Amino acid sequence: MQTLVFKIQESNPNPPEMRRLGEIIKEGGLVAFPTETVYGLGGDALNPESSRKIYAAKGRPSDNPLIVHIADINDLKVLTDEFPESGRKLAERFWPGPLTMIVKKSAAVPTETTGGLDTVAIRFPSHRVAGELIKAAGGFIAAPSANLSGKPSPTLAKYVLEDMDGRVDAIIDGGDIPIGLESTIVDLTGPKPVILRPGYITKEMLSEVLGEVETDPTILDGTSSERPKAPGMRYRHYAPKGELTIIEGNRDEVIARINEELRNASLNGLKTGVIATSENADVYRADSIKIIGSRDREEQIAASLYRILREFDDENVEAIYSESFSSEGFGCAIMNRLLKAAGHKKINLWEDA
Ligand code: TXA
Ligand code: MG
Repeated sequence: MQTLVFKIQESNPNPPEMRRLGEIIKEGGLVAFPTETVYGLGGDALNPESSRKIYAAKGRPSDNPLIVHIADINDLKVLTDEFPESGRKLAERFWPGPLTMIVKKSAAVPTETTGGLDTVAIRFPSHRVAGELIKAAGGFIAAPSANLSGKPSPTLAKYVLEDMDGRVDAIIDGGDIPIGLESTIVDLTGPKPVILRPGYITKEMLSEVLGEVETDPTILDGTSSERPKAPGMRYRHYAPKGELTIIEGNRDEVIARINEELRNASLNGLKTGVIATSENADVYRADSIKIIGSRDREEQIAASLYRILREFDDENVEAIYSESFSSEGFGCAIMNRLLKAAGHKKINLWEDA
């Protein structure tokens, strides 16, 4: 398959080509596109054949459900017969934006799209190019992140092209992605709202609207015996090819320990890498040092994380060490993804002390 690439920026989100891109999806084809969180791999959410194609293009197990993206709040009623009051409140506050809600699905949503579940994940993205594509495609786009299964979600079009060239009909290059981590997922089908995946919309923000909100215990705890309720959170994910270890503790001890680990890895002939905050830019000795952002600028850290994991892959770095970050607020999403990328391999120097 020949993959067409179009550059479309948010400043001019509806150029004449958008019509054709919408037609591709309506006819059962796949188009990768920018959202405010990460790039998505879109197909017609109401067409089971399109969902099958999405799973094939990603190499993703077909029991892992897709998120349905809308661009008009009135389209909700097509996807669900029972949108709860809590969902209405969240929609009013956070849509369009990086929040996905799980509700009971209607008969119109094919089980191919929901991985066999009787619930559906719905998101109304705020990225204007995504909005125009959804409208041009008839209103409902199923879209997982536009990476091959197991790789970090793409935050740059070049990584979409790397993973999806020849596998999709078209890619929209919308430039840089503002947030860089996938949407918050909240399950509204139980007695209390539960966060299944943390994101830019934090627990505190959701609680302000809904009162008590629970969190899936597996989000930061790799030893939990429970199974994550978002099927996708079960899979090895976001992972670089090299082995990543997180070091947590006070600043001086972390720096000393990372340098010691780097020295050992180097002596063992491994190519080494570090993920460092800008405050610690000059203190490490490694083959590849990546500055992820300032320690107290979470949005910088989030926006850089997946790009850095991909760059280590490009450079064939084999042993990677990362500083640890706060898991408060948006930090919960950062640490959730970092821990998953590390397969929960973490050295906690606080505990050793
Ligand atoms: O920010 C995002 O959400 C991006 C952009 C493209 O919108 N999309 C995204 O999709 O991250 P994906 O497929 O990579 O992740 C979707 C997650 C998976 O963990 C999946 O298991 C979960 O959502 N999910 C989808 N439908 C669900 C459902 N009905 N019940 C529970 N979890 C669900
Ligand atoms: Mg994904």
